[in-house]
Amino acid sequence: MTQCTELWVDRTQYRNTRIVKADLPAPGDGEVLVAIDRFALTSNNVSYALSGDMIGYWGYYPAPDNWGKVPVWGCANVIESRCPEVPVGERLWGFFPMASHALLRPGKVRDDQFIDVSEHRKPLPALYNGYRRTRAEPGFLQDMEVERCLLFPLFATSWLIYDYLKDNDFFGAKQVLIGSVSSKTGFGLAQMLHSDPDVSQRIIGLTSAANVAFVERLGCCNDVVVYGEEERIDSSVPAAYVDMSGDARLTTALHTLLGDNMVESAMVGATHWEHGGDTGSLPGARPTFFFAPAQIAKRDDEWGPGVAMMKAMMASAEVANRIKGELGVEWVRDPQLLATLWNELLDNKVSANRGLMVSLL
Ligand SMILES: NC(=O)c1ccc[n+]([C@@H]2O[C@H](COP(=O)([O-])OP(=O)(O)OC[C@H]3O[C@@H](n4cnc5c(N)ncnc54)[C@H](OP(=O)(O)O)[C@@H]3O)[C@@H](O)[C@H]2O)c1
Repeated sequence: MTQCTELWVDRTQYRNTRIVKADLPAPGDGEVLVAIDRFALTSNNVSYALSGDMIGYWGYYPAPDNWGKVPVWGCANVIESRCPEVPVGERLWGFFPMASHALLRPGKVRDDQFIDVSEHRKPLPALYNGYRRTRAEPGFLQDMEVERCLLFPLFATSWLIYDYLKDNDFFGAKQVLIGSVSSKTGFGLAQMLHSDPDVSQRIIGLTSAANVAFVERLGCCNDVVVYGEEERIDSSVPAAYVDMSGDARLTTALHTLLGDNMVESAMVGATHWEHGGDTGSLPGARPTFFFAPAQIAKRDDEWGPGVAMMKAMMASAEVANRIKGELGVEWVRDPQLLATLWNELLDNKVSANRGLMVSLL
């Protein structure tokens, strides 16, 4: 038996959490027990809770009654194995619960990855069932574990949006408006657009007053606009809006300002998770949910399987190196502090320059 510490979240009231300490059974035939020594916590994890029922995020690590285990991106060691292809000592990167330990059931094992083939995970989005066996990867990636947990899952999405915009000639836009640009997904996109010499579009970041200085320091926007001052944006220039905020008021304000010059409107995130809602019919392009797997599938067809994700990983590493020093990484080792920070994230009390890394081991 292994003593496991977990943080559970009430699926009906996210501010309500419970620290659970329980004995994990020894791995059954075909299973491995992993010790999760690091995982990241960002607004993306709040979105996993928000869309937990719709997309299935609650299903990866089920919990009883109203409780849920929010998935996180982390690294772990295999400490007990009843799966000969994945022995003790393996290092993994993938989707874990906010916990010290977890049981996985490896299948389709390759040198560089396996799929968790647990029965309950089969109906869930396949992307999150993959675990990288990181010892098979290049050394520079093995040296970037923190960045991999904290930034890569978000920057990979940034890259897919960057690729989607370029692939569609920006829908004719001459400026890209990025909502909640201080988010990692947001500034990752801004950085990728900014550092591409073939991109001539102006990059306009929208953020709250508290995060302006951080975004300006990153130097990836032509202009940074504070919420409420949207009228500063030149509405005569065709615009593509990429929204990480999910704030219905912001979407309405921008579409109303730009009118038919809003030529693309991609809904990516919901950092302003309490300000969502129906925007009704708006002028300009219809706001449409950006479905990253669709862009991956398109590129897999065109370029071959895995090529797009490899490009996304390389771009992520590049941006992570470029912004080194701008994000302060904070290590959290106490489950009670994790519960507090989860609530602070919900209440917008975690400033953009903080990178939260957790270990409950
Ligand atoms: N669709 C996809 O495939 C996909 C993939 C990856 C990420 N995403 C989404 O992109 C969004 C950004 O994720 P991230 O992990 O990159 O975020 P993050 O780095 O944790 O974002 C932090 C920023 O979000 C805003 N924020 C955070 N909490 C808030 C709150 N409670 N109320 C209001 N604003 C808040 C603030 O930005 P401002 O002051 O600038 O608003 C803050 O600086 C998430 O909603 C995530 O789910 C979607």
